[in-house]
Amino acid sequence: MAMGQGNEPRATDSRWPQIAEAVGLLAGVVRRTPLAPWSSDDGDPRVELRLKLECLQETGSFKARGAWNQIARLDAAGRAAGIVTVSSGNHGKAVAWAAERAGIRATVVMPRNSYPNKIEACRVHGAEVVLGRDRAHCEELLAERVSAGAVLVHPYDAARTLQGAGTVGWEIAEEWPAVELVLACVGGGASRPGRPWPCDSAWEQPCASWASSPPEPRP
Ligand SMILES: Cc1ncc(COP(=O)(O)O)c(C=O)c1O
Repeated sequence: MAMGQGNEPRATDSRWPQIAEAVGLLAGVVRRTPLAPWSSDDGDPRVELRLKLECLQETGSFKARGAWNQIARLDAAGRAAGIVTVSSGNHGKAVAWAAERAGIRATVVMPRNSYPNKIEACRVHGAEVVLGRDRAHCEELLAERVSAGAVLVHPYDAARTLQGAGTVGWEIAEEWPAVELVLACVGGGASRPGRPWPCDSAWEQPCASWASSPPEPRP
C-alpha cells in the first residue's frame, strides 16, 4: 500500500454531487471521525494502515450518516407522517437518534433476538420499538406501517442512505488521496458502495474493497 501523499482534497470531484450534498447536510450534525494510523509489531513495514474510527461517530457507527441524510430531507408531510425502519441494531439506533434530533416520531421494527442494548438504545432515543419473531415477520410489520403512511428509512436499499454512508469514503479520499485499498464490513451493503465511489472519482485509479459480514444477532 502506498504511503499517503498529502491532503490534496481531490474527493470534492463534481462527479459526486449527491455525496457532496450529503457532506454539506451532515456537517455539524455527524462527526468527521479520525483516520488514525495503525501499526502492529508483526505488521509489514511497507504497508501503511489507517483506521477510519466510525466507532467514535454519533450512535457509535457510520449508520448515523445515512439516517441523517434521510431524515434531514423530509418534507413537512413526511415529518408529520413519521418514519419507520427495520434493523437489528445500529441502523435502528441511528434512525432513532436522528428522528429525536429532528423532532419527529420514529418506529424501529427489530427481531426480538436483537441485542438488548440496541433495543434499549432505540427506546432511549424516543423511538417506538416493535419486536418481530423473525426477519419475515419484521418485514410484515414494516410493510403494515408503511401502508399506514409512515416514511420508510431503509437501512441500505435507498439512495439517500447510501449517499450518507458515502461520506465516509469522501472523508477518507479527502484526507488520504493515495489510499489503494479500502476494507469495509458489509452486511446489506450501505457501507460498501459508499466507500469506493468517491475513491474512484478522486484518484482516477482502481480502488478495491473487500467485504466481510458483521456478526449475526444472538440466537
Ligand atoms: C458497524 C457496522 N458495520 C458495518 C455494517 C454493515 O453495513 P451494511 O449493512 O450497510 O452493509 C453494519 C450494519 O449493521 C454495522 O452496524
